[in-house]
Amino acid sequence: MTVSKKHVRVLFLITLFFLEEPFNLCSGNTDHSRFRCVESEKKALLSFKRDLEDPSDRLSSWFDGEDCCKWDGVDCDNITGHVKELNLNDGSLKGKISPSLLSLKHLSHLDLSNNYFWGSQIPKFIGSLVSLRYLDLSGSSFEGIVPHQLGNLSTLRLLHLGQSSRLYVENLHWLSGLSSLEYLNMNYVNLSKASDHWLRTINMLPSLLNLHLSFCELSHIHPLSYVNFTYLAILDMSDNQFHSTIPDWVFSLTNLVSLDLSQSKFLGSFSNVSCSLTSLITLSASSNKLNSTIPRCLCRSASLVRLDLDDNALEGKIPKFMGNLCNLETVSLQSNKLVGTVTEVFESFSGCLASSLKSLNLGENSFTGHIPEQIGEFKNLVEISLQNNKISGPIPVSLGKLSRLTTLDFSDNQLNGSLPEILGSLSNLTMLDISGNLLEGVVSEEHFANLTNLSVLYGSGNPLALRVSPEWIPPFCIHDLRLTSWNLGPQFPMWLISQKNFSSMDLSDTGISDSIPSWFWNLSLTIGYLNLSHNQIFGEVPDTLYSTINGPTIVLGSNKLTGPLPRIYSGLGVLDLSHNSFSGDISRLLCHPILDSAGMSNELSVLLLGKNNLSGEIPECWKHWPYLQVIELGSNSLTGEIPSSIGYLQELQSLHIRNNTISGEIPPSLRNCTSLKVLDFGMNKIKGSIPKWLGMSLSNLVVLGLRSNKLEGNIPHELCSLTELQVLDVADNGLVGSVPHCFDNFKAMTTKPQTLESIYSASFYEAEFLENAYVVTKGRGDEYNTILSLLVSLDLSQNNLSGEIPEQLTSLLGLMSLNLSGNILRGSIPYKIGDMTWIQSLDLSRNQLSGKIPPSMSHLTFVSQFNVSYNNLSGEIPLSTQLQSVDNSSFIGNQLCGPPLSKRCRADHETTPGSTENRGGEDDEEEFWFRLGIAMGFVVGFFGVIAPLLFYKTWRLFYFWCLKNMWHKISDCCFDLKYMVKNKFS
Ligand SMILES: *[C@@H]1O[C@H](CO)[C@@H](O)[C@H](O)[C@H]1NC(C)=O
Ligand SMILES: *[C@@H]1O[C@H](CO)[C@@H](O)[C@H](O)[C@H]1NC(C)=O
Repeated sequence: MTVSKKHVRVLFLITLFFLEEPFNLCSGNTDHSRFRCVESEKKALLSFKRDLEDPSDRLSSWFDGEDCCKWDGVDCDNITGHVKELNLNDGSLKGKISPSLLSLKHLSHLDLSNNYFWGSQIPKFIGSLVSLRYLDLSGSSFEGIVPHQLGNLSTLRLLHLGQSSRLYVENLHWLSGLSSLEYLNMNYVNLSKASDHWLRTINMLPSLLNLHLSFCELSHIHPLSYVNFTYLAILDMSDNQFHSTIPDWVFSLTNLVSLDLSQSKFLGSFSNVSCSLTSLITLSASSNKLNSTIPRCLCRSASLVRLDLDDNALEGKIPKFMGNLCNLETVSLQSNKLVGTVTEVFESFSGCLASSLKSLNLGENSFTGHIPEQIGEFKNLVEISLQNNKISGPIPVSLGKLSRLTTLDFSDNQLNGSLPEILGSLSNLTMLDISGNLLEGVVSEEHFANLTNLSVLYGSGNPLALRVSPEWIPPFCIHDLRLTSWNLGPQFPMWLISQKNFSSMDLSDTGISDSIPSWFWNLSLTIGYLNLSHNQIFGEVPDTLYSTINGPTIVLGSNKLTGPLPRIYSGLGVLDLSHNSFSGDISRLLCHPILDSAGMSNELSVLLLGKNNLSGEIPECWKHWPYLQVIELGSNSLTGEIPSSIGYLQELQSLHIRNNTISGEIPPSLRNCTSLKVLDFGMNKIKGSIPKWLGMSLSNLVVLGLRSNKLEGNIPHELCSLTELQVLDVADNGLVGSVPHCFDNFKAMTTKPQTLESIYSASFYEAEFLENAYVVTKGRGDEYNTILSLLVSLDLSQNNLSGEIPEQLTSLLGLMSLNLSGNILRGSIPYKIGDMTWIQSLDLSRNQLSGKIPPSMSHLTFVSQFNVSYNNLSGEIPLSTQLQSVDNSSFIGNQLCGPPLSKRCRADHETTPGSTENRGGEDDEEEFWFRLGIAMGFVVGFFGVIAPLLFYKTWRLFYFWCLKNMWHKISDCCFDLKYMVKNKFS
């Protein structure tokens, strides 16, 4: 422990008072209790014992023959012999607390803390033990209402009811009776019903030194014009729901030593008053919504040792005065909006703080500039985190002077240059994180020369190359190694053989072009997370994939592995063998799990085998793996039907069998997989009709992909029950009948696309697999990973659908892609199609649509792919910048006229209503932009941005800036702009 002397002294004085009485207990039990205890009190204690259950024999010394003053936990007055104290803490006592205690008229100290009075209420009669000065019932699982009778204990100095989350109060008025109270702890007690008056009541307690009201469900904190509890030294109001600013009175508590306001939904500016927290040693206000600068008034808190303001919205620069806080050891300002250069920060800190500072966390702010060499002067630094800022430049060599450093986190910045060798001298370093920077060059054995304590090394995302001799034995024993995107190859890194204690290892994309040596598989037995994906690893995997721990993740995808699939250990959690050249059938892996001897259940939740050369049928072995959530078997050569045992998988959320040769119908047992969110059977030979139950049973579906199969019949109306659906792709089948009129039930398509989190509830590792689905949009198949959840698409193309396009379709305002091409749809394009303002891709080509293109189409400002060719459309193409920038071929096979076609329309085209109706008053400007749009359309290829520009001046300026400065990169620039426009509209 390294706390300043002053700190120790003050805390000691505070705690001394409370420890004083237990000290007396010890002496009371030995020399001083020369007088036998009072007979009636002994009887009372025996009766008290009788009502208790005492599984751990805490009260074994309590029997009749003995002087009760010698009993364990009992202390008597050494003159009168009256029982003065009962210390029965940590005793596993249960049962009933007998009112016989009332006979102990002189009891001043009662401690029943940390026992197991489950289901018991705090007895009301305790309020009649009027001599009590000390009452501790904390952590003993009492529940129900806190009896107001406690308010009769007018001499009470300590009241501890904390750590009992099932206690509550109706009000706190009774507290005002405890006018001598010095210590009050009600942590976890539900005080929500006292929210309106708790503070007024506390303010009646002028002797209060120590107040703990954490997790009390308090929702109000009031201003106080007069503060009674001026001696207060410790104030903990963390984890409440105040939703207000920190009241000024807090800052007037001159004697306050420790202040904890964290996680209490405080907001607004930190402090506008001149505060007088001159005794403060620790201040925590983390995880609130404070949005001012770091309060100046802290400059008066010269004793401050620990400052924790993480996770707020603090802004501005780090104030200079902090350098003069000579006792400050911990400064934690992570996750705010602080600015300035790192050089400025270390200059501000260069006062006496430079020698006191031990832990500095400035992560997740907006600091810029270079890390100055001056950092080497902060000799006592043990931990430093600057992660996730915009810090550039090299890693300073002077870091080598910080010999006490154990944690160094510079991740996610723009640091460049090479990794200084001197880091290898930091022998206390246990954690080094330089991932997500632009560091380059070679890392050698020297870099690790003395890092004997290193257990966590994160370096992913830098183009660094590790060059060590094949015989290298590192001085460290790493637990957690992540070197994604380093160059470690082409040989498999031999030095790993000396590392026996891995819990996680990510060596993906590290240029390894080798087979995996057999010793590695022994090493991997204990690894919870192993990722060797995106290398050129060849050869076979062992016959069995085994592990000694439960639920590990093994990712070997995107390599050149060959041979049959391995048998796997039943406790495996996530297995990714996708994108390799595994061959043979799946039954070895699926049907013959190696059962865990300890009888642990099968854990497998994610199985990715897509993009291999797997053949044969999908076996009926799914019942071995009841916890599967994600199955990816796409792009293999699988045949046969979808096995009905798939219905065992009640937790299945994502099923991909795309691009195989699967035949037969969609199995009825699939209706049991009610958790399904993504179902992709596209590009197979599945026949039959789309089952009606799909719409009823799989009500969580977000993606339904049935493209390019042999499905027939109607699109069932029941599909319309899928209110979560964001992607429906039934293109290229033999579907007939009309487009159901109930498509406006697809609620998820009617609004702005959902975000990722709201779609998937899976755990961290699984989320990235879940989002994987194939969607065809903008005319090409693509693998939409992270953006899938933002995609809303409806593709009914290449079928034999007839009838009109239902008007209801136009209420799917969230659609980004709509493809109805290659059907036999007739009638006119719905007038309101222009309402679908998110549309980027619209294809109505090769139908029998007639009439005009509705003028509202000019509102489709984001359209970049547009096709109405080969219909019977006639009349003028509505004027709008983006329709005119579309290629002519998108309109051919109709009787259309006007730009962009060269065929002119008759007479009155200058004042086509559609192009002006919403733009009143800006005609001239529009004309200008329109002409610019025409001129530019061929250069840029996409003018969805123009129309919004008319309305938002700042974007207009930005656009000009784009034109002037980034001509060569114009489309990138416009992409940014398009993004801004979208956000504005959202
Ligand atoms: C009684 O105990 C107190 C401490 O609690 C001690 O100071 C005092 O001397 C003792 N009196 C006798 C008579 O032992
Ligand atoms: C201060 O405490 C005293 C004693 O309990 C009480 O009488 C008085 O009302 C309190 N003052 C305020 C403003 O609550």
